[in-house]
Amino acid sequence: MLTREENELICRVGPGTPMGQMMREYWIPALLSSELPGPDCDPVRVMLLGEKLIAFRDTAGRVGLIQNHCPHRGASLFYGRNEDHGIRCVYHGWKFDVEGRCVDMPNEPPESDFKHKLRARAYPCVERGGIVWTYMGPRKTPPPLPDLVANMRPEGQYAVRANMLDCNWLQAVEGEIDTSHAGFLHWGSVNPEDATPDTFLYWSVKDRAPRYQVVDTEFGVMYGAYRPARPGQVYWRIAQFLFPFFTQPPEGVLGQTWVTNAWVPMDDEHTMTFMMIPNPVSPTGGRRLPIQGSSDKYPPVWPELLPNTTDWYGRFRLATNLANDHGLDRELQRSGRNYAGIPSLRSQDQAMVESMGPIYDRSQEHLAVSDVMVIRVRRRLLQAVRAYQERGTVPPGVDRPESYRVRSGGVLLPEGADWIAATEELRRAPVEVS
Ligand code: FES
Ligand SMILES: [Fe+2]
Repeated sequence: MLTREENELICRVGPGTPMGQMMREYWIPALLSSELPGPDCDPVRVMLLGEKLIAFRDTAGRVGLIQNHCPHRGASLFYGRNEDHGIRCVYHGWKFDVEGRCVDMPNEPPESDFKHKLRARAYPCVERGGIVWTYMGPRKTPPPLPDLVANMRPEGQYAVRANMLDCNWLQAVEGEIDTSHAGFLHWGSVNPEDATPDTFLYWSVKDRAPRYQVVDTEFGVMYGAYRPARPGQVYWRIAQFLFPFFTQPPEGVLGQTWVTNAWVPMDDEHTMTFMMIPNPVSPTGGRRLPIQGSSDKYPPVWPELLPNTTDWYGRFRLATNLANDHGLDRELQRSGRNYAGIPSLRSQDQAMVESMGPIYDRSQEHLAVSDVMVIRVRRRLLQAVRAYQERGTVPPGVDRPESYRVRSGGVLLPEGADWIAATEELRRAPVEVS
């Protein structure tokens, strides 16, 4: 449970808010590179940390992320002409480059030097692993990008997916780090006899109340959820929260998979998820390896996406959403095949966190033992934002990009083993920079 004040402090990310200022110290995934498919392509409306921005790719292929309102008299640069190394406002022709410099002011007298005095707010962008990253913070020279190995794979070995959620970013993060929901929401209809014997899935559905250990890390928080497996062995599901909004889920085999999710606040009530995954899903990174197990009752992961629109909230929306109860099918729910009655795994997650409302009032909740990871992550976030607010303390990981070289996944360990020491090598992500 949080007080109302703590809830406000931790959730709100707009300009000038403490959490919003702290997040701006980090590089932030803004959009997919593929949303700007080529030089001088159509600009894209991007909502990020409560700021309306226009993304465009100039003639040289560089990406700009510029304020929506033209600095002249505020017409939207979304309508702009993206041509010849800049975006030109169609109202009076003022033109801006990717750095926000005004490079042309054709309705002013030729002797005017006003254009040299004017600058639009524009944030530096870097592309890596199919994502356009931006830095919205105060430093003149931004810190390095975090060494997230899932975002540093060679061309052809990764994929990125995006989808939008109609809720606050922290709800989305908490939905992912709350591991005990999987045995109900996703696998509630899977009985042990439905699952491949002697696999992660089998042990997960045999014991739906794992025990937890949670530890602070340099970059965030890590948990190990454990339950009995083969005689003398314990199945550990290890996952990471990485400041300020990244997660690595415990799916797959530890040491062999590369998955990182970013839960990026568009504003206080909308979140864009970027999922960085291997492609093709490698034999070792896939979900249905013998050790991971499968069941006919395991729901498909991905729901259908609606076609993108140019709206601020029109990108990467699920076809199953709040407007249609996320595709809830009561017959399916009663059938014994799908516990939630919601067709895909992703929609199941999204239904739960969106159904809490745009910003859940955490003073109303009742946390239990299984919420230990959620509790610890909130505590770390609150500590970091207060230290930042009161003393200007640089938040975790900003200047330590190498601390992000970690992985998550499932592993079998001998009973009584020290899970942290035993998995040290497997959790370290060797970075292969492409
Ligand atoms: S409002 Fe953009 S040029 Fe005048
Ligand atoms: Fe889930």
